[in-house]
Amino acid sequence: MSKLLIRGARELRGEVRIHGAKNSTLPLMAASLVCGGKCYLHNCPSLSDVDTSERILRHLGCSVQRSGGEIVIDPLSTERCDIPDDLMREMRSSIIFLGAIVARMGKAVLSYPGGCELGPRPIDLHLSALRRMGVVIREDHGQLNCVVPDGLHGAVISLAFPSVGATENILIAAVVARGTTVINNAAREPEICDLADFLNSCGAKISGAGESTVTVEGVASISGCEHRVIPDRIAAATYLAAAAATGSALTVADVVPRHLEPIIPVFEESGCILRTDGDKMQILPPSRLRRVKSVRTMPYPGFPTDAQAPIMAMLCVADGTSIFVENIFESRYKHVGELLRLGANIKVEGRVAIVDGVEQLSGAPVEATDLRGGAALVVAGLAASGVTEIGGLNHLDRGYENLEGNLISLGADVTRT
Ligand code: EPZ
Repeated sequence: MSKLLIRGARELRGEVRIHGAKNSTLPLMAASLVCGGKCYLHNCPSLSDVDTSERILRHLGCSVQRSGGEIVIDPLSTERCDIPDDLMREMRSSIIFLGAIVARMGKAVLSYPGGCELGPRPIDLHLSALRRMGVVIREDHGQLNCVVPDGLHGAVISLAFPSVGATENILIAAVVARGTTVINNAAREPEICDLADFLNSCGAKISGAGESTVTVEGVASISGCEHRVIPDRIAAATYLAAAAATGSALTVADVVPRHLEPIIPVFEESGCILRTDGDKMQILPPSRLRRVKSVRTMPYPGFPTDAQAPIMAMLCVADGTSIFVENIFESRYKHVGELLRLGANIKVEGRVAIVDGVEQLSGAPVEATDLRGGAALVVAGLAASGVTEIGGLNHLDRGYENLEGNLISLGADVTRT
């Protein structure tokens, strides 16, 4: 298994271009199934999760051409409606293909996506919403057998939680459903707006995306379109955390500053100065980070749960005690055990993590537990003295394009064995 070797406690410098958003590319690839023509996606990141989505589309019969950040999907040759177990297990967010397959094929057979490192990852909100739109779903032996005897129809859906994936599944199914769909308590993440922009470019009639109430007027069919994927705000947050943890002045380029607003107060409270210039953001950290009284993860526009781990790593070397409250996932502190191996001082009590900042972390062999937990270990390794050896790179490769290449170009001493 390959490992990342980081010789830390080095100052970084320069500028890193942020790749397209993983959590936008995946639903966009699923949504292309509903289109009546070719879809041209630009600025797609080269990540293993995107590879998995490509394999799912090919399995369904779509033709997919990929070169660099361009993905061209032609859904007209779609002939299957099932996602095999191995692909569902490889990427649990494959559940966002359900609405698209049902909308195109009138039926779908998916295995239960199952849990992941963050906890059980239920899909009850997805299933109850689609049932209200006319999908008959039989759950047996871990399989979801879906049919739409009378076709998809609009519905008023009130989500008990502003689930990103459920909002995406409903949007994708609703664009070609008969009648109007209203989503109350919809997710407001930028990736929802990106999906709505894509679908509206294809001729859908979605209004209110980005707000808590979204309305979709169903249309008979939609075309294909050309679309550029928004930048990955979590990748941007990760590089900013690396800069803060190493006391480095860095610039992240090709970002949407508005998408980073939920994390800016945390960086500023830690003593960092953030300057925005168009699609660039520069960070100027203090010589020693200050603690952040409390970091509470919330649905957008609150502090993003995906940034919790990298920001925790940065605050491990702050002066003082920072408190984290993880309100979105029930077990998203698996990276804490690995951070302790690097000399961090963290106590976890249920959803609360108490981080007592230390002067210096020291390198050690650690193992990534999940995607963002792995990112936290990279941030901590860059700050730690000595060598940090990170295993479990399959997790990191799901969400960070060319991570070691970017870090090396910023002056980090990183090698992948
Ligand atoms: C998306 O996951 C992202 N993944 C996650 O990013 C991100 O952490 C999450 O949204 C929250 O922002 C993709 O976009 C591919 P949710 P998703 O449905 O859609 C509960 C990363 O690191 N819930 O908003 O699965 C659920 O258990 C990944 O890039 C239900 O109870 O998130 C969780 O506690 C990790 N029932 C909460 O809602 C449901 O039917 C948020 O889940 C669905 C969700």
